[in-house]
This record gives sequence, C-alpha cells and structure tokens, in this order.
Amino acid sequence: MRFNVKEIVPNFVGQIEDFPFNALDDQVVSELRSAWTKYPVIRFRNVNIGDREQVAFSKTIGAPVFHPRQLQEGKNTEFPEILVISNKKKADGTAAGDLGDGEVNWHTDTWFVDRPPSAAILRSVQLPPDGGNTYWANMYAAYETLPASMKERLRGLSIHHQSVYDGRGEVRLGKERPTSSNFADWPGVDHPIVRRHGDSGKPCLYLGGDPKHQSIVGMDQREAQELLDELWEHATRREHVWFQEWKSGDMMMWDNRCTMHRRDPFDPNTIRLMHRTTAEGERPIPA
Ligand code: OGA
Ligand code: MN
Repeated sequence: MRFNVKEIVPNFVGQIEDFPFNALDDQVVSELRSAWTKYPVIRFRNVNIGDREQVAFSKTIGAPVFHPRQLQEGKNTEFPEILVISNKKKADGTAAGDLGDGEVNWHTDTWFVDRPPSAAILRSVQLPPDGGNTYWANMYAAYETLPASMKERLRGLSIHHQSVYDGRGEVRLGKERPTSSNFADWPGVDHPIVRRHGDSGKPCLYLGGDPKHQSIVGMDQREAQELLDELWEHATRREHVWFQEWKSGDMMMWDNRCTMHRRDPFDPNTIRLMHRTTAEGERPIPA
C-alpha cells in the first residue's frame, strides 16, 4: 500500500493522511478505489493541493459532472469543474458560492437526474472558527437494519423525484413552473428505493432529497407519505451517522450512491469556503 487508511467507523468512514496526490499512478488509484468501496466516506488530512490537483484527482474517480448551479452562480472560470460552496459575497452583494451559511438538510447530491454522481470531493479552503460541521449517514447500514417485512415491502418500489424546484424553492435552470399542485405529476425521474451499488454490489437505501415533494410510483399519496416519513426517519438515525468537524487541510470524499449528508449552519459573520468536484455515476438499478 502506498498510503495508510485508518478506520474511523467500520465499513463507513476511513481516514487517509498524507495521500500522494502528486503520484496518481494506476496502483495508487486502484488502492484508493478499494479503500473507498470499503469506506464510502473518506477524510483526507494534511491535504496541501490546489484546484488543478483536485480536478486531476477527481478525474481518476470518474468524469467530471457539472452541477446545474455551476453554470449559474459561483462559476469558476479557470477550473469549471470546481463548484464553489461558500457564503462569500461578490462586490455587488450577490452570492459568490453555493449553500450560503444556513443549515443544509439531509440529501444525496443531484438525485433528480438519470445518473446521479458517484463521488463528491469537498476540499476546505477557508473555515469558520466553529459551526458548519458536515454529517454523513450510511445507507448500507440503513437498509441492513430494516425489518425483513419492510425489505420485502420495498422490493420493486421507486420514488418519483421531482426535478422542477430546487432546495430553495426556486425553479431549476431550464424548467418551467408546473400548473398542477400534484407533485407526483411534475417532471422528474423515478429511482428505486433500494439500489444495488455498482462497485460493491450491495443493496442500499436511496432516498434522494426533498422529502416534501416525493411520491412513490403507483402508490396512493397518503400511504406513500407515511412510508417515506418512516424511511427518512430510520435512514438518518444517530446510529447510522458520523460527523466531521473540519480542520484546516481536510478534504472529504463521499460516495453519493450509498450515503446521505447534511450540514450545520454557521455564524454568517464568518467565512466558509470549500471547493467541490464531482464524478459521474451510474443509473440506479433496483437491488
Ligand atoms: C455539498 C454539500 C455540505 C458542506 O457540497 O454537496 O452538501 O458541508 N456540502 O458544505
Ligand atoms: Mn450536498
């Protein structure tokens, strides 16, 4: 092994200090991929790289994906692969990055497209003195710990994920405000609630984001809402969650197929600046 992986949470979180970002040959990449299959959340410590190295590293995991918002605010012209996550403001007072300083609710990234990303890589550039911790929930564990009867019930079910409104309630780029209030009819994508992970082959829960506008294909909305509430509650229980208190030099890489994440708010008078890259994923297949 060309680097060490320290276990933080079994089969969930691992830590790599002093990863050889300047020597990304086939061996390093394949060792990293196996570590990442075992630990869907990896914390890199003592990272001393810039945007160029982050983009090159991210491309070893998968082709870059451009988040819809990368094409709007927070655009990084030299490295368009970088999504700026920050509460910084431009001179004209508009946002210089995404997500602001508020709480970010539980979600997986870009769940409302056919092929949601596999990896997200978030590098801290400037951190507030406190707050802004990030939490991950393990969706393998969430699935495994469901009662057998629930696993049976979920077989073959898909969530309809609307793709019209974003998390801030704004109409997404290129979408039109729907005329109907029934979100089961809004444009979007259907993904299986239990998906089989493309690398590990294991089943995991896949709930996407935006629990308020979800429906289950072919199911009455009252029944679907009850089932979804139960699944969201179960998936984000404390025992499935680990959280990261950011330290200077930290970079997190997570598997967006089998984890969810959320973020704490932080003091708006402080600055938090993170640079994110994203790697393409596969179409979720039912487990
Ligand atoms: C993200 C995200 C959380 C954070 O980049 O997708 O949700 O801690 N970030 O900034
Ligand atoms: Mn996110």
